[in-house]
Amino acid sequence: MMEPEQEIEQLREQVRFHLHRYHVLDDPEIADVEFDLLFDRLVELENANPDLVVPDSPTQRVGAEPSTEFDEVVHAIPMLSLDKCVSGDEIKAWQDRCVRILGEDILSYVCEPKIDGVAVSLLYEDGGLVRAATRGNGEVGEDITSNVRTIDQVPLRLLGVDVPRSIEIRGEIYMPLAGFHAYNARAMKSGEKTVVNPRNGAAGSLRQLDPGVTAQRPLSVFCYAMGRCSDDFRPRTHADVLEAFRKWGCCVNPRVEVVEGCEACIVYIERLAQERASLGYEIDGVVLKANDFSAQERLGSVTRKPRWAMAFKYPAEEVTTIITGVEFQVGRTGAITPVAKLDPVFVGGVTVSNATLHNMDEIARLGIRVGDAVIVHRAGDVIPQVVGVVESRRPAGARRIPIPRKCPACGTVLEKIGDEVVVRCPSGMTCVAQRKEAIEHFASRSGMDIEGLGDKLIDQLVDQELVKTPADLYQLRGEDLTELDRMGAKSSANLLESIRKSCDTTLARFIHALGIREVGEATAIALAERFGALEPLMAATLDELTEVEDVGPIVAGNLRSFFDNSDNNEIVLALVAAGVCWPVTDGLVNVPCAGETWVLTGTLESMSRGEARTRLRNLGAKVAGSVSPNTTRVVAGPGAGAKLARAEVLEVPVLSETDFLAFLRNHEGA
Ligand code: IVH
Repeated sequence: MMEPEQEIEQLREQVRFHLHRYHVLDDPEIADVEFDLLFDRLVELENANPDLVVPDSPTQRVGAEPSTEFDEVVHAIPMLSLDKCVSGDEIKAWQDRCVRILGEDILSYVCEPKIDGVAVSLLYEDGGLVRAATRGNGEVGEDITSNVRTIDQVPLRLLGVDVPRSIEIRGEIYMPLAGFHAYNARAMKSGEKTVVNPRNGAAGSLRQLDPGVTAQRPLSVFCYAMGRCSDDFRPRTHADVLEAFRKWGCCVNPRVEVVEGCEACIVYIERLAQERASLGYEIDGVVLKANDFSAQERLGSVTRKPRWAMAFKYPAEEVTTIITGVEFQVGRTGAITPVAKLDPVFVGGVTVSNATLHNMDEIARLGIRVGDAVIVHRAGDVIPQVVGVVESRRPAGARRIPIPRKCPACGTVLEKIGDEVVVRCPSGMTCVAQRKEAIEHFASRSGMDIEGLGDKLIDQLVDQELVKTPADLYQLRGEDLTELDRMGAKSSANLLESIRKSCDTTLARFIHALGIREVGEATAIALAERFGALEPLMAATLDELTEVEDVGPIVAGNLRSFFDNSDNNEIVLALVAAGVCWPVTDGLVNVPCAGETWVLTGTLESMSRGEARTRLRNLGAKVAGSVSPNTTRVVAGPGAGAKLARAEVLEVPVLSETDFLAFLRNHEGA
């Protein structure tokens, strides 16, 4: 029989090992239930032997009593700030100066994402976390140990044997985007306060007096620098430090790179800018650091900023501007979306003058008035949105936003159903705005793919009453089109030809093109596979519909009420009569990837993840998020990490992007 003391020590080591694999490496080695067994046994032994409980035991993440305020912490080495720049020329000037001062030809730099979070200092004594502090004014911060201890990615004990006696590890605590959105969705549901952006979310969470509250917040950390350290750790370079951090179980950003010279830094900055929207957390730039400590020492610091480091700032994704009005737009399904008209402002790399306000409830929630200074967010290709109001800057004449009672396009009284947040125009295809949207969706690439039928043309066709429903498109004649603005004989003929070509489609595309509420591409594919033909789908009962993957009672209800509506029914039949057709399939039999499960990882250059997923699903494959022994194939683009490694371990065939494109060519349309 093992002594409890010994068993506890062994369990702690195992639990730490698996926690690190799970939270830091994102690559668990054992199933959750197995982990729970270890953890529960440890809790059991500690409960039976309270004198053996130590603060750095993995069971002790939350435990401290709420405090009334935070103690001061004086930083042994001040936490400096960084010089900033926004252009390649400025980087060049900075590096030229470094090279000149040092009398060397070229320097090696560590390039790191500049995480938009809250700086933290973590003090480890004999491997155990003894104190965590905010940066404060750089000299004196606040003791937030109890809160930081609740963050799973912060090791309570450093792993391994060669851990220094004492080391201060610095890093950035941040709120990952997925956690930020989930947190806000939950807060909104329960009527609690939402957070404006991930950085405020992280800062607010760390300032909680009750660590139990912090523990509920989705926070993580990236470690990026060393503060004071005992003399038993003497790294030569910053890269050595980061490598040691990794080895000790700390999260170091996987995109950190060591490069030589100025050009390579600029290449890194440009590449990271491309990836910015898909990182899963917010960054506001890149930090460049001279890699060699001897170089850092010789360069030194001026006015609290090191000369050996530089922050390159990306264009802000969040700015403030003035809201000058609100317009109400009618969507395809009649949903009314308020759109803020803004004083034009540069955000996320483009100038925007419109931003969505999502729905009426959002206007009320944000408490926006016309004339207010508002916070506008735009990241990647996502549409700009208003995320907050700066109430302190509200001008005297700021006007409340009148909520419309009638559809701005057709004048019908708007409806709000049950506890839905959306207000809708109930007129369907008789509302001009909805008619235009429905036709645009019908003709779009993922629908019937009618080339050359853009929104301007649709506006004209609908306004002149040449087209009332999608079926009318197939009755258009050359002479109808040549009458329209900017439509010569040639472009009319081209459009008629692409309308004719669109007749030849697939059942899934056709279902999707109909624009039934909440029936997206994936659902349309599942429906096409399940029913194989239009008639059985149109006749399906609610029960039969809910048997289809992804189809719940709401979507089934939407499908039923669509096909039960006699106008819709007529349109569908008119489309078929006009010659719209698809190959007859017999369920899954002719589908080349039926029964296969694929995983996509890394970035693809020739198409988006979404497109790759749809094309695979069109071939009958399932697309999963993680690699398992059931995975048929993995497609790995540049930047593939843990999933690729796992595929190699499990000997799952891996396709490069080139292989994948060849595969699609061979199987699509086969
Ligand atoms: S190094 C002397 N590295 O940016 C070097 N800072 O203005 C000190 N930050 O307060 C910082 N990501 O909060 C460094 N990879 C990174 C960083 C980073 C974000 C923040 C940090 C600091 C501020 C500097």
